[in-house]
Amino acid sequence: MRLPAIIAGLLEAGVAVASFNRRACQHPTRNPLDGCPKNTLLVGPGRNFTTVQSAILSLPNNTSPQHILILPGNYTEQVNVTRPGSVYLFGQTQHPNDQSKNSVNIIWRNATGAGVNSTLDNAYTSTLTVAPTFNSSTTGSGPTGNPVPANTPFGNVDFRAYNLNFINDYKNYATGPALAVSVSYANTGFYFCGFYSYQDTVYVGKLGNAYFYKNEIAGQTDFFYGFGTAWIQSSLVTLRNCGGGITAWKGTNTTFENKYGVYIHDSKVQKANSSLALTGKCALGRPWNALHRSIFANTYLDDSILPSGYIDWSKTDPRVNSNTTMAEYKDYGPGWNATARAQSNITIVMSEKQYEPYSSVEKVFQYPFSGKFGNVAWIDRDPER
Ligand SMILES: *[C@@H]1O[C@H](CO)[C@@H](O)[C@H](O)[C@H]1NC(C)=O
Ligand SMILES: *[C@@H]1O[C@H](CO)[C@@H](O)[C@H](O)[C@H]1NC(C)=O
Ligand SMILES: *[C@@H]1O[C@H](CO)[C@@H](O)[C@H](O)[C@H]1NC(C)=O
Ligand SMILES: *[C@@H]1O[C@H](CO)[C@@H](O)[C@H](O)[C@H]1NC(C)=O
Ligand SMILES: *[C@@H]1O[C@H](CO)[C@@H](O)[C@H](O)[C@H]1NC(C)=O
Ligand SMILES: *[C@@H]1O[C@H](CO)[C@@H](O)[C@H](O)[C@H]1NC(C)=O
Ligand SMILES: *[C@@H]1O[C@H](CO)[C@@H](O)[C@H](O)[C@H]1NC(C)=O
Ligand SMILES: *[C@@H]1O[C@H](CO)[C@@H](O)[C@H](O)[C@H]1NC(C)=O
Ligand SMILES: *[C@@H]1O[C@H](CO)[C@@H](O)[C@H](O)[C@H]1NC(C)=O
Ligand SMILES: *[C@@H]1O[C@H](CO)[C@@H](O)[C@H](O)[C@H]1NC(C)=O
Ligand SMILES: *[C@@H]1O[C@H](CO)[C@@H](O)[C@H](O)[C@H]1NC(C)=O
Ligand SMILES: *[C@@H]1O[C@H](CO)[C@@H](O)[C@H](O)[C@H]1NC(C)=O
Repeated sequence: MRLPAIIAGLLEAGVAVASFNRRACQHPTRNPLDGCPKNTLLVGPGRNFTTVQSAILSLPNNTSPQHILILPGNYTEQVNVTRPGSVYLFGQTQHPNDQSKNSVNIIWRNATGAGVNSTLDNAYTSTLTVAPTFNSSTTGSGPTGNPVPANTPFGNVDFRAYNLNFINDYKNYATGPALAVSVSYANTGFYFCGFYSYQDTVYVGKLGNAYFYKNEIAGQTDFFYGFGTAWIQSSLVTLRNCGGGITAWKGTNTTFENKYGVYIHDSKVQKANSSLALTGKCALGRPWNALHRSIFANTYLDDSILPSGYIDWSKTDPRVNSNTTMAEYKDYGPGWNATARAQSNITIVMSEKQYEPYSSVEKVFQYPFSGKFGNVAWIDRDPER
């Protein structure tokens, strides 16, 4: 049988075409794998695989689609995904559309930077890393990061995680980069997941694409950082304290057709609990370099947000110029102060026309699938089904 060209193209690119119901797979049953795609691997205490990484390492290094179901528990390990073919990780749950009821935690604790060990790259610290090679995952410095050999292949074209929490609990305050997730040279989607750290929780680096749907992402300092492209949809952004900004993005010339940046949509930014005294203190973001681009759109802001919105990198090194996009579009809530934003001369309050080029996933994610096969086939467009 000849597959329709679009499906054949997706399969060739390693993007799985889902023909199963992920909720049936995730639902607890006597045989946990009931409802899962054929050959789904099982991870759990006393099961064939007791760690997520051992299951990942058993997968063939090719473009076949692969699935892994993870039983409730705390897994203390780093998870690294290098293979090109699609990998879907599922956390077992009775509440597949409710992140707050997740029962699978993947936990690691490490940090780097001045407070810990400034000679180590941040890449060492991440709980989850999706990247084809170590060098492609490193943060490095400068607009293009650590050099990556020109023959480095694109990594995973379709990584998805459902109902998993990724935690880096090195310390319970910001003391240097402590990543919960790191994405480079890869397409990744996170549905009903949680990411918890204090500093640099989410890193989307070189040629990294990441989509987050109904997640909770928690941090204190610069907790969305990188120079790839990230879209946060209908999620909870939790302030565990203030420091730096919520976003600390930079611009690069290695993102090809992508509109690199971090785009936070239809979400809620609020402090972790009522005992935190943060009123008017937390910045929406600050520029890692002058090409920073982040937009909070249609997002509720609690009263923790600084009246001016965004801030300079620092007083002595502002890193702001006419190329800097630190923007909002139709935000609301007690953290939205139109007067103070206008006076700030740093926060761009976008018009509909200014916002339009960034208003959908199709517009911002262009690489590596620009063209006939559709650039966002790796995004689950109907994750609640
Ligand atoms: C577990 O391992 C055994 C022995 O290798 C194999 O027969 C079985 O199919 C595996 N089960 C699962 C769920 O992977
Ligand atoms: C996986 O395959 C790719 C392409 O053949 C190769 O570059 C890479 O080194 C392989 N990775 C591993 C871990 O074997
Ligand atoms: C599992 O990890 C969570 C999050 O760190 C923690 O709250 C919980 O106590 C841990 N549970 C067990 C059984 O260790
Ligand atoms: C962090 O990871 C690096 C590299 O694996 C290791 O050398 C270091 O000891 C770890 N630090 C902590 C605090 O665990
Ligand atoms: C920092 O990490 C490097 C590389 O692992 C190691 O050689 C060095 O001893 C570490 N320094 C400290 C102060 O821990
Ligand atoms: C994951 O990658 C990091 C960075 O290279 C490395 O320190 C760690 O040992 C890797 N962990 C596993 C389980 O492969
Ligand atoms: C990785 O990057 C380091 C530092 O830039 C470099 O010394 C090393 O040769 C690179 N390794 C590979 C395999 O490209
Ligand atoms: C409130 O949140 C902070 C940051 O996560 C945490 O350290 C603190 O323990 C929490 N306090 C309460 C009362 O839950
Ligand atoms: C990107 O910028 C770096 C550093 O400024 C420069 O070395 C490199 O040639 C540029 N690459 C392209 C494709 O413009
Ligand atoms: C803005 O970016 C353009 C294109 O990279 C560059 O030519 C220009 O010099 C930049 N403007 C400033 C003020 O740095
Ligand atoms: C909004 O900002 C203006 C100007 O900084 C300030 O005077 C006013 O008190 C602020 N309003 C609220 C509700 O915080
Ligand atoms: C800041 O003021 C300058 C000069 O009036 C103006 O060109 C620029 O657009 C303003 N920037 C923002 C973000 O409001």
